[in-house]
Amino acid sequence: MRLSLRFIVPLAVALALIAYAVVPLVDRFTLKWFERDLDIRTSLIANALQEPLEPLIREGSRTKVLRLFDRILGDERLFALGFCNPNHVLVYKTLTFPAKVTCAVTGAEPAANVSRVVEQGRGPIHVAIRPLESDGVVYGSLVLVHDMSFVQRRSDDTKKYVFYLFTVIAAIISLITVVIAELSWRGWVAGFKALIRGETFGRAGGEVHMRELRPVARDLQALIRDLESERRTRDDSQINWSPETLRMILRNDLKGEEVLIVSNREPYLHLRRNDRIEVQRPASGLVTALEPVMRACSGTWIAHGSGSADRETVDGSDHVMVPPDRPAYRIRRVWLSQEEEAGYYYGFANSGLWPLCHIAHTRPTFRSADWEAYETVNRKFADTVVQEAATRDPIVLVQDYHFALLPRMIRERLPDATVITFWHIPWPNPEAFGICPWRESILDGLLGSSILGFHTQFHCNNFFDTVDRYLESRIDRETYTISYGGDQTAVHRYPISIEWPLHSATMEKPVAQCRADVRGRNGFAPDAVLVVGVDRLDYTKGILERFLAVERFLELEPEWIGKFVFVQIAAPSRSRIDEYQNFEERVRALARRINGRFSVGAYAPICLKVEHHEPDEVYEYYRASEACFVSSLHDGMNLVAKEFVASRDDERGVLILSQFTGASRELAEALIVNPYDVDQCAAALRLSLTMPEAEQRDRMRSMRGEVQEFNVFRWAGRMLLDAAQMRMRSRLLARADRGRKLISTRGA
Ligand code: G6P
Repeated sequence: MRLSLRFIVPLAVALALIAYAVVPLVDRFTLKWFERDLDIRTSLIANALQEPLEPLIREGSRTKVLRLFDRILGDERLFALGFCNPNHVLVYKTLTFPAKVTCAVTGAEPAANVSRVVEQGRGPIHVAIRPLESDGVVYGSLVLVHDMSFVQRRSDDTKKYVFYLFTVIAAIISLITVVIAELSWRGWVAGFKALIRGETFGRAGGEVHMRELRPVARDLQALIRDLESERRTRDDSQINWSPETLRMILRNDLKGEEVLIVSNREPYLHLRRNDRIEVQRPASGLVTALEPVMRACSGTWIAHGSGSADRETVDGSDHVMVPPDRPAYRIRRVWLSQEEEAGYYYGFANSGLWPLCHIAHTRPTFRSADWEAYETVNRKFADTVVQEAATRDPIVLVQDYHFALLPRMIRERLPDATVITFWHIPWPNPEAFGICPWRESILDGLLGSSILGFHTQFHCNNFFDTVDRYLESRIDRETYTISYGGDQTAVHRYPISIEWPLHSATMEKPVAQCRADVRGRNGFAPDAVLVVGVDRLDYTKGILERFLAVERFLELEPEWIGKFVFVQIAAPSRSRIDEYQNFEERVRALARRINGRFSVGAYAPICLKVEHHEPDEVYEYYRASEACFVSSLHDGMNLVAKEFVASRDDERGVLILSQFTGASRELAEALIVNPYDVDQCAAALRLSLTMPEAEQRDRMRSMRGEVQEFNVFRWAGRMLLDAAQMRMRSRLLARADRGRKLISTRGA
């Protein structure tokens, strides 16, 4: 419709101009030319008659004059002839001579040359009077009457041809204009699209379309960025991030769209203990962070059903509602065979990728069979996502290194889905990552995501460098995007956190009570001073280094022997992997050796508890301790540090934190240590036990403010808002595309 208008309107304007301006102008000019022609012709005839006519006039022979006139009238255009004497009397005239014409028709002297067009019944006639002389004496004048109907005929023909000619020219010009306008419109649309997407102008393809946009491009991009960052800052600083905020984002910004989470570890495991079924919340930073988010958002959490009673507790479609006491969302369990679990989870994920990404001096092991299982399981989860998706464009939150291939697999099956992938562990530098034999496939898989998140900018930069090294792609470090194979992935930093306030009954229990209960339960002295460490039994956590620091501390400060107890809660983890079994043995052996060295009676300085603890129990240890020691050798974030801070609403307690954790970038008031530096760690232990209360309060207050403000609802909210914005943009672009297609179809 709009295309035909664009063609017809200029054409109609051109036709009106032709009809009312061009044709009359051409008509006037042709008339003038014909009049001038007739004047010349008239003079020629008059000159030619001068000589033969003069003797006949003198002779007064009427018959001879009229015969001469009739002979001349043989010319088809000369219509009548007459002769006037010097007194303006029409003496001779041919039979055709119009009655209206007299010798005085012009009112001029016979000596004057006069021409005039006169209208009469049959159409216009051209009347010309030419004086006749003989020897310089005027003896009369010749009246020549030309029929001008041929001029009229010719003028009509000319008008017609001029009209046709100009109409054709106007049509061609209109068509060319429409085509050019359409082409440049497409160019502009493409240009603006690229602009909105934040693309720059370096690409050969885009260059042609966008040259005209260049002057405005930078300003527009800067404006978009300003608006975005303004919105981000405004959002981030003004919003009180809570479960309700998340619900609001889902309601308002995402219009209640479907949210699916995929992770390997499920938030609730059902375990068979004799004839009872127990529910367990696993020790996992990922679960700690995401569980409150899911409670707020509802939706479906797809995970490996790994509990011994998991199959007994699901419904016919493998779903179970959780939390058991207050169901808010559902888990969809995916079943893996023992071989699949061995290859995908214990093999590629935890013997390959885990040590690869954590620079903790444990060699990664890569086996083809593990890689095949990893691919198979990723595909199994992709199938489950497709089955669970009720819409064609759900928001899928893919979690962690177990699913590097999943984003691409989802993108292939649900191209309209928004896939947000979060990598919970560090991303190493390109050299370290390069030893993985399937590095390109992993990068390709991850770049199926719409948004890819890491805890720190350092990990984002490592990822950019790795992609730059191993894939043909376009990296924009200004907008933090990677364009690869026609897709664009935004790579951003989203520091993960925990819920605030903590959702636990232990928080109701006074600190003094927690202390008394922990001491009583474990048989510690009533005045024992506790420091706690809470981890999975994992070689990246620096548990050995921590014990060595305890040993050094007691060496340097023997007065603490008998009073100081280091409680290490170590959740058994991945124990089928040799590295982990060896590690557990080494941890136990070291604790034994140090305890052997410093034990006095029933007192032992290290209390190693290798068993699962539910969150409420862990919070009790946090509240009962003077300090919490986090000594990871490499850790994406480490949420134990944040949980300790959140649990200390009494504003006491000291956090000793490894510089190799993501958390150390946020919790600057902790005692930041290098876990490899045993003396520094021992000094930090001493400082934590002797720190004045006022200083403890100041530090703790500041860290609590940080964790409160940057809580997990903000982490999830920020990603969901970015996803909402991305979806809005792509819908706008799709609408622009549809509009353009509509224009071309209608125009065709
Ligand atoms: C880390 C990983 C998580 C994982 C957790 C516990 O935090 O990033 O993905 O769930 O460790 O490990 P597990 O192997 O027991 O799930």
